[in-house]
Amino acid sequence: MKIVGIGSAMPSLVVTNDMLSEFLDTSDEWIVTRTGIKTRRIISTENLVMLATDAANKALEKAGLSPLDIDYIICSNTANNYVTPSLSSIIQGEIKAQAPCIDINGACTGFINGLAIANAFIAAGQYKNILIVAAEEPTRFCNWQERDTCVLFGDGAAAAVVTVGNALKTIHLNTSSYTDVLYYRRKLEPTPFLNNNEQGAPLVMNGRELFKIAVSASIEDVKFVLKEAGLTPDDIDHYLIHQSNKRMVESIRQFLNQPEEKFPMNIDTCGNTASASIPILMDELCRKKVLKKGDTLLLSSFGGGFTSAAAILTWEMED
Ligand code: ACO
Repeated sequence: MKIVGIGSAMPSLVVTNDMLSEFLDTSDEWIVTRTGIKTRRIISTENLVMLATDAANKALEKAGLSPLDIDYIICSNTANNYVTPSLSSIIQGEIKAQAPCIDINGACTGFINGLAIANAFIAAGQYKNILIVAAEEPTRFCNWQERDTCVLFGDGAAAAVVTVGNALKTIHLNTSSYTDVLYYRRKLEPTPFLNNNEQGAPLVMNGRELFKIAVSASIEDVKFVLKEAGLTPDDIDHYLIHQSNKRMVESIRQFLNQPEEKFPMNIDTCGNTASASIPILMDELCRKKVLKKGDTLLLSSFGGGFTSAAAILTWEMED
């Protein structure tokens, strides 16, 4: 498998920390120091389908493929307006493709899970060209009165087109059941047969606990994929780590004793965009021509579940 197209689309509204402190007991100083986030993009006039469609079209254009060349569409998403149809089915209609579609929810690791699924289908010879879209609006499952969660997130979408190739060196997926450190419970319709009064809950997060679990998991995953690929930390040109918190990325970098320039970040302008965070960063680095053909990338992500995933791949797109 190799990536042949990448694209992203962000909401138009830029929300600064000062804008948040107008209705929350918080400050730019607190948010920047604890998280590295200065601004984030939040959906207002557009919707998630529009962003996902825009990102998908950009990735297809970059790949030089038409929507009809796509054999399968995977959409990574944690929550959106529709339980059914799937977001991937809606995206298919918008981009005018004709392919089977599936949504996956691997929380923040969804994009790497999407790469793993695509790789398996390609390796099995079942599909050739696969579109992976990561479209997320985590700002819709936060309680906007709770300063410890809502300041962390931003919305956005990104997409990658993958096809037959040998760029993927190794990929590693994990889940361990820590269901109470991070959850958002949707309220379902009542039925005449339920006798308990179920309640929904906006995002609940044990930030301190999650910080430790996530950093340890990422370090273990990075060590695992390096060993499996027969590489050392020095062999990696770019570490694309899930943009959850600047301090988390820094902790991972320091453990690996690698220079700052190998750990690009955009959390300062995007916040945590869940599974869209790595492909949004990848697209940004591609457009800035930071990623050069032949570079080795290590992706590492972690999130609700608790899930974590890592992959090593060669960048094969022309500059
Ligand atoms: N503004 C001002 N003060 C705040 C805010 C805020 N936005 N949020 C919390 N505080 C206060 C707390 O109330 C607390 O006050 P107290 O000492 O009087 O009780 C104080 O700041 C310290 O709070 P902590 O939670 O201990 O702060 P911490 O240094 O752990 O930082 C943070 C919190 C940023 C959430 C951090 O724990 C973190 O990033 N954790 C990782 C969680 C994460 O990334 N989640 C994203 C989803 S999952 C994923 O992607 C892995």
